[in-house]
Amino acid sequence: MKENTGKVLTGDRPTGKLHLGHFVGSIQNRLKLQQEEGGIFYMVADVQALTDNAASPEKVRDAVFEVALDNLACGMDPNETTMFIQSQVPEIAELTMFFLNLVTVSRLKQNPTVKTEIKQKGFGENVPAGFLAYPVSQAADILAFKASRVPVGEDQLPVLEQTNEIVESFNRLYGKTFERVTPLLSTHPRMPGIDGKAKMSKSLGNAIFLADSPKEVEQKVMQMYTDPKHIHASDAGKVEGNVVFAYLDVFDPNQKELAELKKQYKKGGLGDVVLKKRLSGVLNDFLDPIRLRRENLASDPKKVMDILNEGTREARKTAKQTMDEVRERMKINYF
Ligand code: TRP
Repeated sequence: MKENTGKVLTGDRPTGKLHLGHFVGSIQNRLKLQQEEGGIFYMVADVQALTDNAASPEKVRDAVFEVALDNLACGMDPNETTMFIQSQVPEIAELTMFFLNLVTVSRLKQNPTVKTEIKQKGFGENVPAGFLAYPVSQAADILAFKASRVPVGEDQLPVLEQTNEIVESFNRLYGKTFERVTPLLSTHPRMPGIDGKAKMSKSLGNAIFLADSPKEVEQKVMQMYTDPKHIHASDAGKVEGNVVFAYLDVFDPNQKELAELKKQYKKGGLGDVVLKKRLSGVLNDFLDPIRLRRENLASDPKKVMDILNEGTREARKTAKQTMDEVRERMKINYF
């Protein structure tokens, strides 16, 4: 294993299986980093998942396994990437506690990401304090490993902004300890759900999962939103906002042919079903090897848990070193 410099850290909230939106928005990005430099940290953020799923511990536990499977099936390599479970690194919880003193409640309430999520989840005033404070615990996720580059989706930018505010406050009060963090954004735009209404998301029920069967993929593609005014094949159709084209743009290996199809669609004379069949084929070709690896891994759950256990042990070494330094800086190194 390459030496882990703790520079890149990324994570998933385990609330269910991962979907194509996750692949385009984050998995792809982290695999590229893994290949280019190796030595990255990947966290299954179960503590964060529990901040709004406290009543569903089984769901979170199952999802820890599923998201690890999804990442491994896509090509995450435990020899290059330290894969670990957040809750099993208690140093992160300790660091969170100290960071909480550096952040005001009103600032947390103003975080655009958290604000949107509170609305989506219908919490109102009854938002769990842990959920309101998840950006603080996420700062600890990152800084416990002294990571400075963080691959995330666009929606997470305000969270990383709060991390940087915490970096500034901590360094000012206790001496220079942490570096500011830089988000690494995916180059692809956010992928729409099959309904075309919003981003692909498990909770909105508009997702194609990496573990979906070929039949499920086909059925979901057949339901995809295209252009409601494109009724007959002969009608002129719109490419923008058409979910089928959004996915062909990313996944179709023959982009030249795709450009021709777009022209034809805009002019009229190309039916949705033809395009949807093409997309089903493209997606199933893409997902076949992932599904196969996923099934193989799923048949040996102990192997997956061993990978996480080993990674967690490794990750903890780094977090412990950081905490030694933090306690010294904060003058709480008594014994
Ligand atoms: N909040 C991130 C998400 O919802 C997941 C996450 C938790 C994370 N801890 C992290 C991402 C640390 C990057 C770094 O996608």
